[in-house]
Amino acid sequence: MAAVAAVVAMVVLAAVVGGASAASEEEGWKLRQGFYEQSCPQAEQIVRHFVEQHVPRAPSVAATLLRTHFHDCFVRGCDASVLLNGTDGAEAEKDAAPNLTLRGFAFLDRVKALLEHDCPGVVSCADVLALAARDAIGVLGGPFWRVPTGRRDGLVSVKQEALDQVPAPTMNFTDLLASFQSKGLELPDLVWLSGAHTIGIAHCDSFSERLYNFTGRGGAGDADPSLDPVYAANLRRTKCATPTDNTTIVEMDPGSFLTFDLGYYRGLLKRRGLFQSDHALLTDAAARADVESVAGGPPEVFFQLFARSMVRMGMVDVKTGGEGEIRRHCAVVNG
Ligand code: HEM
Ligand SMILES: *[C@@H]1O[C@H](CO)[C@@H](O)[C@H](O)[C@H]1NC(C)=O
Ligand SMILES: *[C@@H]1O[C@H](CO)[C@@H](O)[C@H](O)[C@H]1NC(C)=O
Ligand SMILES: *[C@@H]1O[C@H](CO)[C@@H](O)[C@H](O)[C@H]1NC(C)=O
Ligand SMILES: *[C@@H]1O[C@H](CO)[C@@H](O)[C@H](O)[C@H]1NC(C)=O
Ligand SMILES: *[C@@H]1O[C@H](CO)[C@@H](O)[C@H](O)[C@H]1NC(C)=O
Repeated sequence: MAAVAAVVAMVVLAAVVGGASAASEEEGWKLRQGFYEQSCPQAEQIVRHFVEQHVPRAPSVAATLLRTHFHDCFVRGCDASVLLNGTDGAEAEKDAAPNLTLRGFAFLDRVKALLEHDCPGVVSCADVLALAARDAIGVLGGPFWRVPTGRRDGLVSVKQEALDQVPAPTMNFTDLLASFQSKGLELPDLVWLSGAHTIGIAHCDSFSERLYNFTGRGGAGDADPSLDPVYAANLRRTKCATPTDNTTIVEMDPGSFLTFDLGYYRGLLKRRGLFQSDHALLTDAAARADVESVAGGPPEVFFQLFARSMVRMGMVDVKTGGEGEIRRHCAVVNG
């Protein structure tokens, strides 16, 4: 037990030291835990109760909420711009491919309606998204942590910005790290937040070039050599049967894609990460050492590191004070 505790302390310390980043923390001080304590004391409870009621019946929505929060934060900061509908023919972040499923949007609209009923015009959509993602992870067996709140909602959403700023699954380590650093995040955040892929699904066309057409030459045998060949053959046989399949979905952490656990990191070390961006974590010595340090367990070590990085991600370029607005309906700006 002492040895485990020592490892926990070491890993956590390494993350604190390695993860210090002025940009996001400076922004972050604008947020605080319990921002709605006076203005809407039941706000967090309303979100949590709704999530705990509904996610067990539709557990795949948990991953959608988490991914939506990530995409929100990487485009114009965590300001719920990802939830806005397009207007007058101009396409919004929502319209960027590959897009997110509508189920998550409807889910958030329902939570927001409950909050508007109790505390009209008080709780931002950006905070609802951050809180719902946190609570949904808890329902799937993951950690609970305090989410700093006080984000305000943005007024603008542009499709092209999502295409440019959300990292692509074909990215190598250098480009992934640059993407995270452009948001004030650091290498440990990249490693721990990628652990989100322990839940949820991917469509075949998000990674099928690794099965069929890795070099662009195509034809039999043109698979990504860094993907476990047995696993790749299995995916071609049982899931992504053609190079152009864009409808079949694959569990990212097969067998426990609805449980927030260490399965992602364990699969990664077996070279079964679905995306090049997953495998990329093994191509950098520091990132790989981080992966190896948590994969053996206990899960609580990963949980703590993940929670810390989620707080940091949730602070990226947030709007506070007089910026933006508190949207009444998450899909449209107040008119
Ligand atoms: C490091 C760069 C990342 C890349 C390149 C990436 C890419 C992707 C891709 C391509 C998918 C599959 C989409 C589909 O085919 O339907 C996916 C799914 C997902 N991603 Fe990431 N992702 C990254 C980081 C993150 C982060 C930081 C989070 C959250 C903290 C996250 C959470 C998720 C979740 C939960 C899913 C499953 C969604 C569902 O089941 O509906 N990802 N990601
Ligand atoms: C946003 O767009 C969706 C899908 O097109 C639509 O169903 C919904 O009614 C729109 N929401 C608002 C508030 O206009
Ligand atoms: C997602 O993409 C599909 C096909 O490209 C489109 O029909 C659908 O409306 C999009 N969903 C959202 C929420 O934009
Ligand atoms: C990573 O990818 C970028 C763009 O695709 C490329 O320019 C760069 O050389 C790659 N870096 C490494 C280390 O492979
Ligand atoms: C394989 O990749 C090349 C280059 O990206 C592309 O031109 C070709 O159409 C792809 N083949 C298939 C079957 O997707
Ligand atoms: C899937 O591919 C077909 C054929 O190429 C295309 O017509 C369709 O729009 C695609 N669907 C999505 C969701 O991308």
